[in-house]
Amino acid sequence: MRTPLIAGNWKMHKTVRFAIELVAGLKRELYDEKETEIVVCPPFTALSPVGEIVQGSPIKLGAQDLYWESEGAYTGEISAPMLKEVGCSFVIIGHSERRRLFKETNETVNRKITAAISSGLTPIMCIGETLEKREQGVTDEVLRKQLDASLERQSDSNILKCVIAYEPVWAIGTGRTATPEQAGSAHAVIRLWARERYGKAVSDALRIIYGGSVTPQNVKELMAVADIDGALVGGASLDAASFCRIVRYNR
Ligand code: PGA
Repeated sequence: MRTPLIAGNWKMHKTVRFAIELVAGLKRELYDEKETEIVVCPPFTALSPVGEIVQGSPIKLGAQDLYWESEGAYTGEISAPMLKEVGCSFVIIGHSERRRLFKETNETVNRKITAAISSGLTPIMCIGETLEKREQGVTDEVLRKQLDASLERQSDSNILKCVIAYEPVWAIGTGRTATPEQAGSAHAVIRLWARERYGKAVSDALRIIYGGSVTPQNVKELMAVADIDGALVGGASLDAASFCRIVRYNR
């Protein structure tokens, strides 16, 4: 049984003051949530205060990125041990915004995954095709290539410590969600890839979540797809009421 995971990616939103307000609201509402694993990923500046508030609640803390070295002369970067120190247990790696705007590559994603796992953080590794690739009919190949390169040389036990987020680039922040069929078929490709590479036990246990314009209105039909184990939520995670409705998609 794979535990459903709903993660909120706040991106570059929320000053400390508003981050505290948002997470306090989530904590009040979600204090007794047991069925679904819940993660919030605030910007770096808000990690520490949000981490203190979520202590003792079912809400877990995640970061939106990290650097693969533990410390050193890397101006502007944040390491895995630093994230652990402020209470993170998850970290998003290779989000398409980072790949597109900040030149993140499969190679850097791979290094970051190793660093995260060595420090005991669970990576949420993002992959997904652009609209152009989808229209060319090469979505499956794009996903397989990203998986091969981003997870190259990772052991079975490392793969089991990862969550994979399928996030079609054309669905992120656009209000244009993948249909359950489109998402389901991409998730099936990812699970098949894991099975071919790592065997049935790993592929059965691997959590694959969907991201891209998830809302309280569409989460239920997405979560009804057998291979979809959760959601990575951007815009709709910035409002406590809508994020809580997404977490409680099955009620
Ligand atoms: P969105 O973002 O829900 O606003 O589309 C999802 C994401 O980027 O993870």
